[in-house]
Amino acid sequence: MSPSSSAGIAPTSSFGLLRQPREVLYGAGQRAALAPMVLALGNQVVLVTDERMAGDPFFNDVVVALRRRGARVTVFDQVTPDLPVGDVDAAVAHVRSSEASDPEVVVGIGGGSCIDLAKVLALVLRHGGSPRDYYGEFAVPGPTIPVVAVPTTAGTGSEVTPVAVLSDPEAVMKVGISSPYLIPHTAVIDPVLTGSCPSGLSAASGADALSHLVESFTAIRHEPTSELYQERVFVGKGALTDAYARYGLELVGRSLRTCVHTGGEGPHRDDMAMAALCGGFALGTAGTAVAHAFQYPIGALTHTAHGVGVGCLLPYAMAFNAEARPEETSEIGRLLGAGENVTPQGAVRAVADLLSDIGIPATLADLGVTYDQLDEIAENGLRARRLVQNNPVPLGAVEARELVELAFTGKLP
Ligand SMILES: NC(=O)c1ccc[n+]([C@@H]2O[C@H](COP(=O)([O-])OP(=O)(O)OC[C@H]3O[C@@H](n4cnc5c(N)ncnc54)[C@H](O)[C@@H]3O)[C@@H](O)[C@H]2O)c1
Ligand SMILES: [Fe+2]
Repeated sequence: MSPSSSAGIAPTSSFGLLRQPREVLYGAGQRAALAPMVLALGNQVVLVTDERMAGDPFFNDVVVALRRRGARVTVFDQVTPDLPVGDVDAAVAHVRSSEASDPEVVVGIGGGSCIDLAKVLALVLRHGGSPRDYYGEFAVPGPTIPVVAVPTTAGTGSEVTPVAVLSDPEAVMKVGISSPYLIPHTAVIDPVLTGSCPSGLSAASGADALSHLVESFTAIRHEPTSELYQERVFVGKGALTDAYARYGLELVGRSLRTCVHTGGEGPHRDDMAMAALCGGFALGTAGTAVAHAFQYPIGALTHTAHGVGVGCLLPYAMAFNAEARPEETSEIGRLLGAGENVTPQGAVRAVADLLSDIGIPATLADLGVTYDQLDEIAENGLRARRLVQNNPVPLGAVEARELVELAFTGKLP
């Protein structure tokens, strides 16, 4: 972990909680360990991915290696981005009529959408019903089929988080299933798998990782009662999540621009895969806040990629929260390389500049939002209560409307 901190090293008496997979394997080349790790969990295996990855030689190698060792393997390769709830129904039906109809392990290989489908599939196959039965927090009744998560983007951190996000045509916004039972059993993070990400995808997923790190580092801090971990899936910032956020922010400062502008494989991909993992650890326990809350209705209205929307909102959310989190906000600037004496306002500017350099639109208007949609966005964003409640500054209707207006006009205070 990074020793640099002027918000101070947290006293060891402060609150800490981590919720994590049983095993996390990280590093270039570690994808070779995937087949043996999967087989250690069982012989009936479902692999979840999308059409792009299904045609990748690595994916084929995994299937061959599993079958050679006697596994019964079913592949579902029809995941669509942003995970429509219908994909889950299709995957359940496909598995039920396949050679691994009673799987012992579900493997998600791909971006956040593939990993989230693996999580929800493992839940529905074990507990029945439909994904809608589990929306919200703590609605999952017990352990799911073990999930092994293999990310191919450096962004969501879903490989280690207790949440899956779906698009439901019956809901105005994206919906989440949040439960500690949704944390994958094993995560295998091989940065080489992100080397094929085109510039726009590196930018969107990198902006998502940055938003997870910033929002968990500046999140609310709760009174650390011994009931807290049972009352909330996301418990606010603490000593351990801060440590992950600091490390991740330094890596983003060092390598996000290179991932977007140079691409290919290399140490910059290692950095961003680790940054995204740190973001997952931080958000998976602390939680994210208003940038994520308002992206829910904006994504539904504009079909903007998740990372592009949260990235666009992030500087405005930071500016809104800077007074409540001045030390953390300055420290974010320092960790991103904006200089030792950076002010909170300077740190917000540094984040806005970084996002602009990687091509994230600066305003909601640039995302295609129209002025007459702002009331609806403010109203619906507030409905993402678990995210809004995680913000360090309380938000009512007036503040929500102010925030979206600022993000629309592009006026950073
Ligand atoms: N569960 C969580 O903790 C969590 C956190 C944040 C976001 N999310 C969700 O994750 C989803 C976004 O995930 P994402 O940003 O990883 O994108 P994605 O999974 O939606 O994939 C986007 C596109 O990128 C392609 N792609 C993936 N890896 C690639 C690679 N290595 N090379 C080339 N193309 C590649 C995919 O084929 C797809 O077309 C959203 O639904 C979002 O809400 C979940
Ligand atoms: Fe996110």
